[in-house]
Amino acid sequence: MQAPLFVALDAEAAVALRASMTERRIPRGSIIFADGEDGDRMYVILDGKVKLGHTSTDGRESLLAVLGPGEMFGELSLFDPGPRTATATALTDTVVVGLGHENLSPWLAGRPEVAEALLAALAQRLRRTNEAMADLVFSDVPGRVAKALLELADKFGEPVPDGVLVRHDLTQEELAQLVGASRETVNKALADFANRGWIQVDQREVVLVDRERLEKRAR
Ligand code: CMP
Repeated sequence: MQAPLFVALDAEAAVALRASMTERRIPRGSIIFADGEDGDRMYVILDGKVKLGHTSTDGRESLLAVLGPGEMFGELSLFDPGPRTATATALTDTVVVGLGHENLSPWLAGRPEVAEALLAALAQRLRRTNEAMADLVFSDVPGRVAKALLELADKFGEPVPDGVLVRHDLTQEELAQLVGASRETVNKALADFANRGWIQVDQREVVLVDRERLEKRAR
C-alpha cells in the first residue's frame, strides 16, 4: 500500500499495522461518518474516492477536500477528541481501513516513524488549507477552478492521447462546492476554458489538454 503511514515502516511492521486495521467497504453515495458525531477512528483509503463536506446553518454545502487512495481522514477526532468536523461520503464504491484510538496508541509510542508520517500528512493538509483560504480572498473564480482541476489531476489523473484524463466523480454542483463559488460561475469558467481548448468537459470527468495555460491561470 502506498499510503505514507505504511511507506514509513519496514515491510514486516507495515503488515502488522495493516492487520490491526479493520477493512470497510462503502457503497457509492453512503456516509462514512457525519459532521458533529463522536468519533475516535481514522481511516486510510485503499480504493475509491471520499468527499469531506460541511453544511452551514442556512443549509449551504461546501467541500473541504476530495481524497483518494493512500490518503487519510478522520484523524482530527482521534488526536483531539471531539465531534467530527466534516461529513465523509463515498463518491464511488470505496474501500477504507479504519484504525481506532486503542490500536493507534501503541504504534505512536513504539514507532516514531508512524507519528512522523501522521504529522507530515497533517502539516501538508494545513499548508493546503492555508493556500485555499488565501485563494478565496485573492483569486478569482476561474483561477480557483483552474487550481482545483490541477489538484484533482495530481490525485486522479491518467495520461490519454489528448492530455490528462481526470475522473473526479464530482457533479457540477460538487465541483462548485469545492471551489467555493456558485454553480453558474464555475460552469462559466469551465465553458470558457473549454472554448479556449484548454480542457474537454464531460460528466464527472475532464481532460486537461493544456496544463501549462491552466497553471498560468491558477497563479
Ligand atoms: P475529523 O474531524 O475526525 O472528521 C472529519 C475529517 O475531515 C477530519 O477529521 C479530517 O480528517 C478531515 N478534514 C477536516 N478539515 C479538512 C481540510 N481542510 N482538508 C482536508 N481534510 C480535512
